[in-house]
Amino acid sequence: MASYLFLCLFLFFPHLYASSSSGSHSCSHHEAASLIQFKNSFSITQTVHAVRYCSHIVGFQSYPKTNSWKEDTDCCSWDGVTCHHLNAHVIALDLSCSRLYGNFPSNTTLFHLPHLQKLDLSYNDFNLSKIPSDFNNVSLKFLDLSHSNLSGPVSRSLGNLLQLTDLDLSRNQLSGQIPRSLGNLLQLTDLDLSRNQLSGQIPLSILNLTQLEYMRIDGNTLEGSIPDEVTAFPNLISLDLSGNLLSGTLPSWLYTAPSLKEIYLSQNQFSGHIKKFQSKSPELICLSSNNLSGVIELSMFSNLPNLNYLDLSHNSLSLTSNSTSSVNHILPNLIAIFFSSCNLSEFPQFLKGLKSLESLDLSCNRIEGKIPQWMQEVGNDSLSYLNVSHNSLTEVEHFPWKNIAVLDLSSNLIRGNLPIPALTINVFLISNNSFNGEVSSLICNASFLRILDLSHNNLSGTIPQCFGSLSDSLEFLNLMKNKFYGTIPPTFAKGCNLSNFNLNGNLLEGPLTPSIFNCKGLEVLDLSNNKINDTFPHWLGSLPQLQVLVLKSNHMHGSLCVNSSKSSPFFSKIQIFDLSSNYFSGPLPVGYINNFKAIINLEKIGSTVSYMGMYDYEGSAFYTYSIGIAMKGQDVELVKIFTMWMIIDLSNNQFEGEIPKVIGKLNLLKGLNLSHNNLNGGIPTSIGNLTSLEWLDLSSNRLSGTIPNRLADLSFLSSLNVSENQLHGQIPQGKQFNTFGNDSYEGNKGLCGFPVSKGCNIIEPPPPNVLKKDGSKSNIAFGWKVVLVGYGCGVVFGMSVGYVVFQTGKPKWLVNLVENQHEKRRRRKSK
Ligand SMILES: *[C@@H]1O[C@H](CO)[C@@H](O)[C@H](O)[C@H]1NC(C)=O
Ligand SMILES: *[C@@H]1O[C@H](CO)[C@@H](O)[C@H](O)[C@H]1NC(C)=O
Ligand SMILES: *[C@@H]1O[C@H](CO)[C@@H](O)[C@H](O)[C@H]1NC(C)=O
Ligand SMILES: *[C@@H]1O[C@H](CO)[C@@H](O)[C@H](O)[C@H]1NC(C)=O
Ligand SMILES: *[C@@H]1O[C@H](CO)[C@@H](O)[C@H](O)[C@H]1NC(C)=O
Ligand SMILES: *[C@@H]1O[C@H](CO)[C@@H](O)[C@H](O)[C@H]1NC(C)=O
Ligand SMILES: *[C@@H]1O[C@H](CO)[C@@H](O)[C@H](O)[C@H]1NC(C)=O
Ligand SMILES: *[C@@H]1O[C@H](CO)[C@@H](O)[C@H](O)[C@H]1NC(C)=O
Ligand SMILES: *[C@@H]1O[C@H](CO)[C@@H](O)[C@H](O)[C@H]1NC(C)=O
Ligand SMILES: *[C@@H]1O[C@H](CO)[C@@H](O)[C@H](O)[C@H]1NC(C)=O
Ligand SMILES: *[C@@H]1O[C@H](CO)[C@@H](O)[C@H](O)[C@H]1NC(C)=O
Ligand SMILES: *[C@@H]1O[C@H](CO)[C@@H](O)[C@H](O)[C@H]1NC(C)=O
Repeated sequence: MASYLFLCLFLFFPHLYASSSSGSHSCSHHEAASLIQFKNSFSITQTVHAVRYCSHIVGFQSYPKTNSWKEDTDCCSWDGVTCHHLNAHVIALDLSCSRLYGNFPSNTTLFHLPHLQKLDLSYNDFNLSKIPSDFNNVSLKFLDLSHSNLSGPVSRSLGNLLQLTDLDLSRNQLSGQIPRSLGNLLQLTDLDLSRNQLSGQIPLSILNLTQLEYMRIDGNTLEGSIPDEVTAFPNLISLDLSGNLLSGTLPSWLYTAPSLKEIYLSQNQFSGHIKKFQSKSPELICLSSNNLSGVIELSMFSNLPNLNYLDLSHNSLSLTSNSTSSVNHILPNLIAIFFSSCNLSEFPQFLKGLKSLESLDLSCNRIEGKIPQWMQEVGNDSLSYLNVSHNSLTEVEHFPWKNIAVLDLSSNLIRGNLPIPALTINVFLISNNSFNGEVSSLICNASFLRILDLSHNNLSGTIPQCFGSLSDSLEFLNLMKNKFYGTIPPTFAKGCNLSNFNLNGNLLEGPLTPSIFNCKGLEVLDLSNNKINDTFPHWLGSLPQLQVLVLKSNHMHGSLCVNSSKSSPFFSKIQIFDLSSNYFSGPLPVGYINNFKAIINLEKIGSTVSYMGMYDYEGSAFYTYSIGIAMKGQDVELVKIFTMWMIIDLSNNQFEGEIPKVIGKLNLLKGLNLSHNNLNGGIPTSIGNLTSLEWLDLSSNRLSGTIPNRLADLSFLSSLNVSENQLHGQIPQGKQFNTFGNDSYEGNKGLCGFPVSKGCNIIEPPPPNVLKKDGSKSNIAFGWKVVLVGYGCGVVFGMSVGYVVFQTGKPKWLVNLVENQHEKRRRRKSK
C-alpha cells in the first residue's frame, strides 16, 4: 500500500522527487567538487564508540554514507545529499553517523555551498579539530555538529548565520566562553551546547533569543548567575543548565516564563529561596544538589496542575506539609518525587493522594519508626522506585507494591525478618540494618533480580540453595558481614551471570564449590573472613574476567605450585590477589605471577571507567563493587575499587623460599605484602622496577642481605616495612627513604644509617631535613581519602541517566523524556 502510494505520487507529481538522478537537473560541478573534496579529507573509522553510540541512542546503524559518492555521477543521488527539487542545488547534507574520521581541511569549500540550508555532521570523529570559522552567511538554518569530537572555542562567526533556527554543538570538547555573537541569532529555537568544557558566564545577549524553545547547556563549567530579565524567553519550553558551577539566585523569569515545562538546574551552586511559580506550565522541576535554603511548604507547588516530576534533593531545604486534611488534593499528578536530604521527619502526608506515583526518594532524612500503614495504598499498582535509605526506620511489615523494581532500605535500624518484595524486583538493597533470621527461599522466585545487597545485617541460616538458579539474572550478590553458616556457596547453574560475589565476614566452612566456574563473567570474588577449608582453587584462574580475588582469613592450605602449561590464560585479568592469613605453604606462586598480565601491563584493561561496578551504556556508575582488604597495614572496606588498583597480599601464610625476581615484572603494582611468612634469601633488586608501588611490607620473614638502593627510586612509596628480618648494611638514603621512621626497620640487628640509631662505618650523608611528603604524594593521599569516604548521602551524579540501566525498572517515561527527547526533536526537525 505504501509503495503503491509512493508510485502514484511519483508518476503524477514527479517534480516532488526531482532529487532523483532521472530529473532533468543534476547538481553543479562546483557543488559536486566541494563534496568530493570534503569526502576525500576523511577516512572511515570503525571505532566501537562511534558505531555503538549511533545504534544505541540514535536508533539506527551508522554506515559510511560517503561510499556512494562517485565522481561523474549526479551528486543529488548520493547518500545524505538532498537537492532542491527545481534547480538541483544542494540544500541539505546529512552525514550523521557516517564514521567520518579526520581533521576538517582548512581549505574546504563545503561551508560555502551557496544554497545549503541544513548541515548535519553529528556522530563522527573530527579528531579534535576546530569548528570551521568561515561558514557562508549559506542561508543555513540547521547546523548539527554534535558528538563529533570537535575542540577549541565556539567560533564567534556562528553569530553570522542569521537564519539559523537549530544549533547543536553538544558532546564535543569545546572550551572557552559562549560567544556573545550567539545573541544575533534571533531566529534560533533550539540551542544545544551541552557536555562540553565551556566556561565563564552565560552572555547577557542570550536574552535576545526570544524565539528559543529549547536551551541545553548542561555539563559544562559555566559560572556566575543566569541572565535575568522578567520577560525573558517567552517561548522557552525546556531549560537544561544542570551540572555547571552556576550560582546566585534562581532568575525571576523561571517562575513566569509562560511556556516553560522542563527545568533542569541540578548540580550547580544556586542559593537563596525557591519562590512560588506564577506560570502553570511546569511539568518537571529538578533543582537537586544546589545550595538552596529555607522552609518549603509543599502547598506552594499546589497551583501547578501539570507537575509530574519534582526533585528538591540535596539542598539545605526543610520541607513541611502542615495540614492532614487539605493536602490530599495537592499535586495529584506527581509521578516522581525526589526529596533526599530535605530534613523530613515523617512520610509527607500529601503522598496519600498520589495513586499513580512511580518513583519516591525520601533517603537521607530523619524518618523514624515504621513505614506508615497508608503508604501501602500509595502507588500500590505503580510504584517502581522507592528509596528510604539513610533514615532511622525500625520496622517494615511487608512490601505491597506490585510493580516495584528498585527498593533501597539500606542504612536504617530495621529489625526482624526480611520481607520479600514483589517478583518484579530488579534491585533490592537492605545493607546496614539489623535484619535477622533466615532468608526465605521465596526470594528466588524474583527472576528479574539483578542486584541483591544484604550486607551488614544479622541474617543467619544457610544461604538458600536456590540462589544458584537465580544467578542467571543475578549479577551482584553481596552477603558480606552476616551470620550465614554451612557450606558455600550454593550450586551455580550453567549460564550463571554473577559478576560480583561477596561472602566476606560470615561463618561459612567446608570447601568451595567448583560450580562457581559456571559464572564465566565473574569479576570480583570476596570470600574473606570465613572458615573455608580447601586447597587453593586453581580452577578460578581460568575465569576470563576475574579481576579481584580475596580469600583472606580462611582455613585454606597447601601449595600454590602449578604445573599448568604456561600458555593457559591463568588469572590474566587479576588486579587484586589477596590470599593473606591462611595456611598456604611452599614457594611463592611464580607460575601465577608470570601470568598476571593485567599487572604486568600486557593485558589492556578493557574499561575506561574509574571504578569496578555496574555502568549504563553512557558510562555512569550505577552501583560500585566493594571488598574488604588491607592497605598500608590498615584493614579497610573499599566501597569503590579503582580499576587501576593492583594489589598482591600473600601475608600471614607459611610460604617459604626466596622472593622470585619475576616479581619485578608486575610494574603496575601499587601494594605488595609478603609479611609473616618464612621467606629467606635477599630482597630482589627487581623490586626497584615496581615504579607504581605505594606500599611494601616484607616484615617478619627471614630475609637477609641488604636493602637494594634502587628502592629509593620508588617515588610513590609511602609505606615500607622490612622489620623483623635478618637484613644488614646501610639503609638506602635520600628521596622516599627520608620519610620512613625507625619502625620500618626494627628487629634487623644488622641495619645501620638513618633513621636507626646505629651508624654505619662509612661517612654518612648529612641528616635529611625534610620529613614531609612531596606534593605529588600528598595528592595521592588525598585521593585515597576521598574514595574511602565512599557512600553516604552525597551527591548522586547523573539524575538523568541513573536509571537507564534498568530497562524494565522504569521510570521509563523519564528515561525517554530526558535521553530521547533530544533525539526525537532532532529527527523531527531534520525531516
Ligand atoms: C589527528 O590529529 C593529530 C594531531 O593534530 C594529527 O597528527 C593526525 O594526523 C590527525 N589524524 C587525522 C587522521 O587527521
Ligand atoms: C586543499 O589542500 C589540499 C592539500 O593541502 C590540496 O590537495 C587540495 O587540492 C586543496 N583543495 C582546494 C579545493 O583548494
Ligand atoms: C577524539 O579525538 C582524539 C584525538 O584523535 C582521540 O584520542 C579520541 O579517542 C577521540 N574521541 C572520541 C570520542 O572519538
Ligand atoms: C559573513 O558576514 C560577516 C559580517 O556580516 C563578514 O565579516 C564575513 O566576511 C561574511 N562571511 C562570508 C563568508 O560571507
Ligand atoms: C543582543 O543583546 C545585546 C546585549 O544584550 C545588544 O547589545 C544587542 O543589540 C542585541 N542584538 C540584537 C540583534 O538584538
Ligand atoms: C551556601 O549558602 C550559604 C548561605 O545560605 C552560604 O553561607 C554558603 O557559603 C553557600 N555555599 C556555597 C558552596 O555556595
Ligand atoms: C500551612 O502553612 C502555611 C504557612 O507555612 C500557611 O499559610 C497555611 O495556612 C497552612 N495551611 C494549613 C492548612 O494549616
Ligand atoms: C530541620 O527541621 C527541624 C524542625 O523539624 C528544625 O528545627 C531544624 O532546624 C531543621 N534543620 C535544618 C538543617 O534546616
Ligand atoms: C490500591 O489501593 C486502592 C485504594 O487506594 C484500592 O482501592 C485498591 O484495591 C488497591 N489495589 C490493590 C491491588 O491492592
Ligand atoms: C581442614 O579439614 C581437615 C579435615 O577435613 C582437618 O583435618 C583440618 O584440620 C582442617 N584445617 C583447618 C585449618 O581447619
Ligand atoms: C628491571 O628493569 C631493568 C631495566 O630497567 C631490566 O634490565 C630488568 O630486566 C628488569 N627486571 C625485571 C625482573 O623485570
Ligand atoms: C538511594 O539514595 C541514596 C542517598 O541519596 C543513594 O546514594 C542511593 O544510590 C540511592 N539508591 C538507589 C538504588 O538509587
